[in-house]
Amino acid sequence: MTELPTTGTPHPLAAGLDSTRTLEFPPGFRFGSATAAFQIEGAAHEEGREDSIWDAFCRVPGAVFEGHDGSVAADHYHRMPQDVALMAELGLDTYRFSTSWARIKPGDRTLNPKGLDFYSRLVDELLGRGIAPWLTLYHWDLPQALQERGGWANRDTAYRFADYALEVFEHLKDRVTDWTTLNEPWCSSFLSYAGGEHAPGHTNPEEAVAAAHHLLLGHGLATGAMREVADKDHRLGITLNFTVADPANPADAVDVDAARRIDGAFNRIFLDPIFRGQYPTDVLEDMAEAGLERHIRGNDLEVIAAPIDVLGVNYYNGELVAGPTTPPAPDESLVFASDRGLPRRSPIVGSERVGRAWRDLPRTAMGWEVQPEGLERLLLRLQEHYTGPAGIPMVITENGAAYDDVADESGFVDDSGDRLSFIDAHLRATHRAMEQGADVRGYLVWSLMDNFEWSFGYDKRFGIVRVDYDTQARIPKASAKWYAQVAASHRLPARR
Ligand code: FCB
Repeated sequence: MTELPTTGTPHPLAAGLDSTRTLEFPPGFRFGSATAAFQIEGAAHEEGREDSIWDAFCRVPGAVFEGHDGSVAADHYHRMPQDVALMAELGLDTYRFSTSWARIKPGDRTLNPKGLDFYSRLVDELLGRGIAPWLTLYHWDLPQALQERGGWANRDTAYRFADYALEVFEHLKDRVTDWTTLNEPWCSSFLSYAGGEHAPGHTNPEEAVAAAHHLLLGHGLATGAMREVADKDHRLGITLNFTVADPANPADAVDVDAARRIDGAFNRIFLDPIFRGQYPTDVLEDMAEAGLERHIRGNDLEVIAAPIDVLGVNYYNGELVAGPTTPPAPDESLVFASDRGLPRRSPIVGSERVGRAWRDLPRTAMGWEVQPEGLERLLLRLQEHYTGPAGIPMVITENGAAYDDVADESGFVDDSGDRLSFIDAHLRATHRAMEQGADVRGYLVWSLMDNFEWSFGYDKRFGIVRVDYDTQARIPKASAKWYAQVAASHRLPARR
């Protein structure tokens, strides 16, 4: 998206949520945390694990901040029992993690018993401490061997994913109730195959639309296969990342159309096939040149619309968007540019010229606007148009923020002025949506601990627990201590 100048006047959405009230969450509401395999595990080539696309991408000069990689990460592979003990100390009732396909089925060949055993031990450790495991089967780390056969642009990868998913399900279904097929397919298609920002770092819109369809197909095939052997207690779902796109000038038809395009390209392109068994007509038109429709075969959409039991909602921020700038800004294709010399392209396939304006809102260290009321609107909209009609609940599977943490001599970070406030505000927004009828059953903060933030490497810290990467010490931040109290009491205390 093209960057537009900051809007001069404070945006009405800047109005904060009232933090003077104490809020009660229902007893069954889940308070937990989330991580992902590649971001924390390390042990990249131990006990049979082979390259994923992220291992390979990290070796591309300029792909990741200062050449950081996942070889050690937060060393969770070797520290797993202590990390679970830490979650128990914080009183978290749910832990969302992902399994590494490249560890469980290196090269997508045969099952690696040692790889699978790591997750089996993790699940036992969690259950032993009264923490419910929430397993995500794919958080972006495709075996590199499959990328060499075209990755998600190759339809066959959807079938490979379903096979892997079923194998993991069969091994762990006796102890894991909550299953997510994919994390944020928008990122693993558009940001990865068109934007060039994520592995495999391609800038090809045709590949990106193919990847989006094949990810959806993989989700549907895996869900159908798992359902056949699931019990009634198993909950199967998918996690999508959402934006809330508002037109810069609601009276300008061009800006309104820009908001429609962004909503289509981020949200509805995944929601509609899953919940309604069809792609939205306008999105098919917007992406016609890249050829989205060409990839739909036979009963694909029926497969994709396999019923799910829960929708995972990841929300970080929304966007204020404007119509195509006229004439196009000369550097518009550089907006998502790497400052490290690699090719980049807009990931908004078919709507590359939509612009973004900044509001008078605070921003995180990622540069993302802090917009909690967007979460309230998002949850209400999902409830009304998607999850409500399908009769299923939502869980916030990720929300959180990176800030430039400053640790004291003991490694303690007082993030009460930023990360803690961010989480507080988003929990308040969630509560408001619930009061208005949104069926939200839990909140999983991103992230349990600092970790490998993809192309930003270890430069951005999202943890409520600090990781000292020199010693691998874990030091709970102020936000972790506060979150532990919230989880224990199911109450959000008044802040001032
Ligand atoms: C989400 C990813 C997660 C993390 C957060 C900050 O898009 O799912 O792995 O990087 O953003």
